Amino acid sequence: MTLVAERSHVVPSGSALGADIVGINPVSPSSDDIQLVKSALRDHLVVRLRGYDISDVAFTRFAALFGELEGSPAYSRTRAVYVPDCPEITIISNVVEAGAPIGEHGDGELNWHSDKGFVELPSAYTFLLGREVPASGGNTSFCNMYAAADRIPADLRARLADLKLKHQRSHTAQGTRRPGYRDIGTDDPRELPGPQHPILRTHPESCRQALYLGRRFGGYIVGLPLAESEAVLNQLWLCAAQPEDVWTQEWQTGDLVIWDNRCSMHRRDAFPGMGRRRMHRLTTISERPY
Ligand code: SIN
Repeated sequence: MTLVAERSHVVPSGSALGADIVGINPVSPSSDDIQLVKSALRDHLVVRLRGYDISDVAFTRFAALFGELEGSPAYSRTRAVYVPDCPEITIISNVVEAGAPIGEHGDGELNWHSDKGFVELPSAYTFLLGREVPASGGNTSFCNMYAAADRIPADLRARLADLKLKHQRSHTAQGTRRPGYRDIGTDDPRELPGPQHPILRTHPESCRQALYLGRRFGGYIVGLPLAESEAVLNQLWLCAAQPEDVWTQEWQTGDLVIWDNRCSMHRRDAFPGMGRRRMHRLTTISERPY
């Protein structure tokens, strides 16, 4: 009997986004494999490679084939929640060892967001590798933000062409203040620090426009009266994450999920008391949003 290696191929989830990529080894990918992953990301926004036991060094080498890697955030490093030999990796975990968390984000819900919209050059791709996952709980859902843009009523969409959204950087998607930011005594979104990005963002490869919201807490549409900004943002958020635009990842150990933050958002279910969850995360830097 002759054994033939399985040809790498893409299996779409059947939802508005998401696909499995089968037959690629991220430890030694060919250039055709990388092209396949890139084109699957362009077509499906989120892809999953299932069942790989990959070292942190190989994981970092693989992710770097997709763009310049971001450093792990300074607040992670000062709290020593990082992988010493691979400083670009951030640990996302609920595990507490010797009284200290080994990673970020605990076991709570994470509201809908895209990664690092609150910096001038936000994340393009995020790579999340499941090192340890609970038997159930802690699922991550993704929504298609091209579909969200297409839901915006035409008159509002025309108005948005010239408007920018300030993505505040001092607070998380849950509204808690990040380490390193002093309390400025107000939650008024006009006062919170953060960069301004177009609300309709053009993807450089697909050339399509996606709704680019970042996170709800503290968002402000620059130049509008606050009440009007809040009303428009509420309307835009209603266009996002409609059930038919969502796909949910139920984690298995060894899953590597990659998503494109320029045209998707994600959220995570809370999983208190449901077991250990330890993920290694890498992100690449995007172009300036336009
Ligand atoms: C994240 O939003 O970066 C983490 C998502 C997750 O823990 O599933």
